[in-house]
Amino acid sequence: MKRTALVTGASRGIGREVARELSREGYRVLSAVRVAGDAQQLPGGTPEVLDVGSPESIERLAGRLAGRGGKLDVLVNNAGVYRGVEARNIWDVNVRGPLLLTQALAPLLLDGARVAMVSSGLGRSANQDPRLLTRLRSEVLTLRDVEALCDEAPGGYGASKAALNRLAQLFAKQFEPRHILVNAVSPGWVRTDMGGANAPRSLEQGAASVLWACRLDADGPTGGFFEDGQPVE
Ligand SMILES: NC(=O)c1ccc[n+]([C@@H]2O[C@H](COP(=O)([O-])OP(=O)(O)OC[C@H]3O[C@@H](n4cnc5c(N)ncnc54)[C@H](OP(=O)(O)O)[C@@H]3O)[C@@H](O)[C@H]2O)c1
Repeated sequence: MKRTALVTGASRGIGREVARELSREGYRVLSAVRVAGDAQQLPGGTPEVLDVGSPESIERLAGRLAGRGGKLDVLVNNAGVYRGVEARNIWDVNVRGPLLLTQALAPLLLDGARVAMVSSGLGRSANQDPRLLTRLRSEVLTLRDVEALCDEAPGGYGASKAALNRLAQLFAKQFEPRHILVNAVSPGWVRTDMGGANAPRSLEQGAASVLWACRLDADGPTGGFFEDGQPVE
């Protein structure tokens, strides 16, 4: 049977390229996009309407997939926003979205699945406010605490990606008994609408850094933060 992957933010940029490449590798790809018409046509794939900034939209998607008996081998939380919106919106899309979506799809993830959280080098610890780092590093931090942080939105894009990195760790621990590997991955600075025309990396290079987390062997790492397969911090 074909393996199934769901990629968020698959309308353009890195998400679109990751979806295309997974399809080429033989996955049935669910391209999650805000506007159905923005999904590319992939053999055997289907578009799925999803606004990761909307908890209702996430619930609807999870309900649709569960209703169809859907199972996932790979989940790529790629959708993201950089600037031009309020901090609260950045946290809603970059952190709360991946949190709620991963929670909602947890029953559909197959044992041994792979989850990639698309992060950024700007999320590395060295770039963060020490007060935020102290909170994120708390050993008793829970998913509920991360959701509460989203209400506060303590910082901009980089802070939101630091929280996403911690989210990857929390899910990695939660899913360990099911052998599901969860990692945060930086695509590097990539020529997309977000990265701009002067970015040094191609779409293919950025996508490859993300795809690495989808292709990990069963004994691969979990709960880490990587770029091009190398630990970032
Ligand atoms: N490009 C870089 O240099 C770079 C560097 C580091 C990290 N990243 C990360 O890589 C990921 C992809 O970035 P990109 O460069 O491909 O960005 P992009 O070209 O701006 O594409 C962003 C994608 O996210 C989707 N999106 C935004 N808000 C959404 C929402 N509320 N619900 C669902 N989808 C939403 C967009 O959908 P619409 O088409 O509907 O707007 C689009 O598909 C992001 O997480 C970004 O933070 C990028």
